[in-house]
Amino acid sequence: MDKFVIHGGNALRGEIPVNGSKNSALPALAAALLTAEPVTLHRIPHVRDIRTMQRLLVDVGAKVDIEDGAVRLEASKIVSPEAPYELVKTMRASSLVLGPLVARAGRARVSLPGGCAIGARPINLHIFGLEQLGARIEQSHGYIEAAAPNGLRGATVHFDRITVTGTEDLMMAAVLAKGETVLRNAAREPEVVDLAELLSEMGAKIEGAGTSTIRIQGVEQLGGAEHTIIPDRIEAGTFMVAGAITGGDVTVTGCNPEHVGALVAKLQQAGAEVTQTSADSVRVRAAGKLRSVDMTTEEFPGFATDLQAQYMALMTQAEGIAIIVETIFENRFMHAQEMARMGANIRVDGKQAMVAGPRALSGAGVIASDLRASASLVLAALVAKGETVIDRVYHIDRGYEKIEQKLAAAGARIERVE
Ligand code: EPU
Repeated sequence: MDKFVIHGGNALRGEIPVNGSKNSALPALAAALLTAEPVTLHRIPHVRDIRTMQRLLVDVGAKVDIEDGAVRLEASKIVSPEAPYELVKTMRASSLVLGPLVARAGRARVSLPGGCAIGARPINLHIFGLEQLGARIEQSHGYIEAAAPNGLRGATVHFDRITVTGTEDLMMAAVLAKGETVLRNAAREPEVVDLAELLSEMGAKIEGAGTSTIRIQGVEQLGGAEHTIIPDRIEAGTFMVAGAITGGDVTVTGCNPEHVGALVAKLQQAGAEVTQTSADSVRVRAAGKLRSVDMTTEEFPGFATDLQAQYMALMTQAEGIAIIVETIFENRFMHAQEMARMGANIRVDGKQAMVAGPRALSGAGVIASDLRASASLVLAALVAKGETVIDRVYHIDRGYEKIEQKLAAAGARIERVE
């Protein structure tokens, strides 16, 4: 199992490029199951979750080719509409194939995801939505079995809580349903908008993506398309925090500044200088002291839960007390204990964490519990005195492509060891 060995203390300087968005690429890959024609996707990041999704698509019957950095998918026939436990347990986003498979093949068998390091993460809303669209759903032996032999029919689905992949799953089911589907209290994340754009390029009729009401007119069939995935806003945000926490001067390139607005506001309030240097780059400079600023995670356009851990690392270096409230997941503070082992002063009480700073961090052996927690430990290690060894970096490889090389190119002392 790989580890990262990090020696803290260097201010990061220079440009750090971002990849395509993992959380946009995952539903885009699943969407290729909706058509027999080829779908070509550009800017798919080379991360482990994407490889898992590609394996799943191959199992289902799709052809997946990688040509000149683009991924070409062709699902001329669905051979086995099933997502096995072995894949779903390593990546919960596998449930994104549920909607496309029922819509295209009239049935699907998808393993129920089990528990997860950040919360219970049920998929009851995906199931509820598909039932509204007329799918018959049964649960047995740890699997969801969905059937709609005569096709799905449009309906109004009101999500009683906002779900990102739930919205995406239902959108993909509804594009081939008969008649109109209205998704209410839909997620407004940029990844939902990106998926709607891809589906529209494939011939779907979708209005309102990016707002909380999405209207979909079902069509008989979809065709192929060629699409470029949006930049990864969480990777961009992670590098912006890396610039700020090390007192450096980092320009994050190839990003969409509109997607990181909530983080920019917090960084500015904390005393960092943030400027948009071009249509797709943001510069973060933090020469002076940082101030503590409270933060509550919210759905987009609020502060992303996927940047909460990284923000907590930043607040260990800020003057004062910051209250961080996690509203999306019930158990997403596992990094706090690891940061405490590095000398941070953090008290967790339910959904709330109190971070008192600034504290001089010192290198220690720490364990990454999930993807974003591991990113936050890398950030803490960049300012810790001495050596930090981060174990189980396979978590970080699920969502960040070559993070150690990107950070090292900006001056970090980080290496991967086996
Ligand atoms: N929820 C339910 N029932 C459902 C679905 C969700 O109760 O059927 C709850 C969840 O348990 C959670 C909340 O609703 O408490 C929001 O969950 P959501 O469904 O929005 O999360 P997700 O779609 O499973 C995506 C991202 C996550 C990101 C969340 C929130 C992908 C592949 N994953 O997950 O990304 O944290 O939205 O923004 O898009 C990550 O990249 O590290 C990551 C975890």
